[in-house]
Amino acid sequence: MNKIICNNYIEMSRYAAQIIAKQIKVRPSAVLGLATGSTPVGTYHELIKMNRAGKLDFSKITTFNLDEYYRIEKHNPQSYHYFMHKHLFSHININSGSIHIPDGDVDCADEECRRYDCMIEQAGGIDLQILGLGANGHIGFNEPSSALFSNTHLTPLTIETIQANSRFFANIDDVPKYAITMGMSSILQAKKILLLITGSSKAKIAAEIFKGRITTDIPATLLQLHPDITVIMDREAASCIAQ
Ligand code: F6R
Repeated sequence: MNKIICNNYIEMSRYAAQIIAKQIKVRPSAVLGLATGSTPVGTYHELIKMNRAGKLDFSKITTFNLDEYYRIEKHNPQSYHYFMHKHLFSHININSGSIHIPDGDVDCADEECRRYDCMIEQAGGIDLQILGLGANGHIGFNEPSSALFSNTHLTPLTIETIQANSRFFANIDDVPKYAITMGMSSILQAKKILLLITGSSKAKIAAEIFKGRITTDIPATLLQLHPDITVIMDREAASCIAQ
């Protein structure tokens, strides 16, 4: 695992954006795996700046988001569709037909999961997957459990995740209780992974990734199995890692 410790969130975001930009320059038709949540917002902001300055072209890239709440309509301001358009897609020259996010407003979630996995396969797999880390160690919405799913699936959210995500909702009861998420195997099949971790509240769980122990109770520890992963943290997030 390649570990980069930055002084603060802004530095972390700039570093991550540089890696993503490099990937797009090497392969203009790159397939990117994207995350929502507060962690990558600064990175997306940096990418938008590069695009506006004419330094980065998104016209040929394809994107797949990790997850979406179930059930939620795309135009709902709490949906990850809305989030991604607000924080990235509506500010860059991406082709709207190349954006993929699980549809959280379908009757048959299983069908949607199979469709999503097929689309990732047809796109040739993900070149670079951007991830955030849940406070309970989840990746995407692969929640701590005695067993994890390999492919895209419908999952109940744990109470910790519902509580953590309630900050984006008026009321905790409004937080959806289910989500569609890419599975751990779909994530681990990405050619490269970029895990971003920020803030002291993630310090203890972040340290678990570097202990050499792999457990489904902390899904992020499975990332140690990946041959090309870079973890970019700010100092606060890295504060519990044994030196
Ligand atoms: C989001 C996602 C989640 C978040 C994680 C951290 O698409 O899949 O795993 O990355 O919950 O969220 P933040 O960045 O808000 O702390």
